[in-house]
Amino acid sequence: MSKKVVVTGGAGYIGSHTLVDLFLNGYEPIVVDNFSNSSIKNIEGVEELIQQKLKVYNLNCCDYSLFKEVFESEKNITALIHFAALKSVEESLKKPALYFDNNVKSLEIALALCKEYKVNNFVFSSSCTIYGQAKELPVVETTPFGKPESPYAETKQKCEEILKKDFVSSVSLRYFNPIGSHHSGLIGDRSRDNPANLLPIITRVAAKKQEKLLVFGGDYNTHDGTCVRDYIHVADLASSHVKSIQYLEENSGKHVFNIGTGFGYSVLDILKAFSESNNIEVPYEIVERRGGDIEQIYADTSLAQKKLKWSARTSLKTAVRDAWNWELMK
Ligand code: UD1
Repeated sequence: MSKKVVVTGGAGYIGSHTLVDLFLNGYEPIVVDNFSNSSIKNIEGVEELIQQKLKVYNLNCCDYSLFKEVFESEKNITALIHFAALKSVEESLKKPALYFDNNVKSLEIALALCKEYKVNNFVFSSSCTIYGQAKELPVVETTPFGKPESPYAETKQKCEEILKKDFVSSVSLRYFNPIGSHHSGLIGDRSRDNPANLLPIITRVAAKKQEKLLVFGGDYNTHDGTCVRDYIHVADLASSHVKSIQYLEENSGKHVFNIGTGFGYSVLDILKAFSESNNIEVPYEIVERRGGDIEQIYADTSLAQKKLKWSARTSLKTAVRDAWNWELMK
């Protein structure tokens, strides 16, 4: 019998890719999602990929009683992966209380239920945003938390702190910037928000749905003046979750890992890679800096390589091609 893994936010961008990976590695994913910023189409896409129906609970995991029913109905849950969260940096600046209420409360409820039902393996979606602007790059897991640039960042710091003190064995995965989508074109980023992230905006411009890309800031202290990030293919990022569960099955305790490629690319590097790989011109204009952006960050991933036996495999060229494919297929 395959081991059950509860996946909150399983219909989302990273969650849906993780469902496929769980299934391929012999786990039975149980999806919990309220579809507030995701789509049933991702579930249908996963079902087509795995040729099997998924069990899906449509509920908000901030609702303790409803969430408890999942634990009551599903016996022998081996692990929980907690993706469900609000993720817009911009919105968090406008509605900080909403972000604290939702992101911190849902984690606390998930942990309380894990305690009650003796689910001892917990994987949490953290973010490189917890580092703020680190003094030394690349960041390692021991790099201290930086000044949070947004309430969104603060919720991720708070959640990691809660996990550190909790009884449950956990892995916090500090994601760098996920891009691209599944090579099949069946699952990807179906967030309802207007896109604010770089790649979805580049593909919108390439598809002539937007006139040009506004590059936020050309005067940063980087090789070409634009911000530097560590862009990782979403399927590579997703594959770190199964590795984390397998790791927790052998190693109890609290763990944190950077999940990136180890390479930093500027906004203009990404634009060039996209244009060249897809043979499309993307008009752009360098404008004022965007509030809350950090200048540069990229990961040291040696801990994840050593402990999780995980590393990113997909080239930037493939990732930006998959991003364009998604714009055309979605
Ligand atoms: C940030 C957080 C990340 C979080 C994500 C959620 C950091 C380091 N990262 O990612 O943890 O999960 O928000 O959305 O805090 N850009 C443009 N023009 C655009 C859009 C983006 O120039 O129209 C630039 C940004 O200024 C930035 C880069 O592209 O330099 C990447 O931006 P984005 O994709 O929004 O991700 P982050 O802000 O890095």
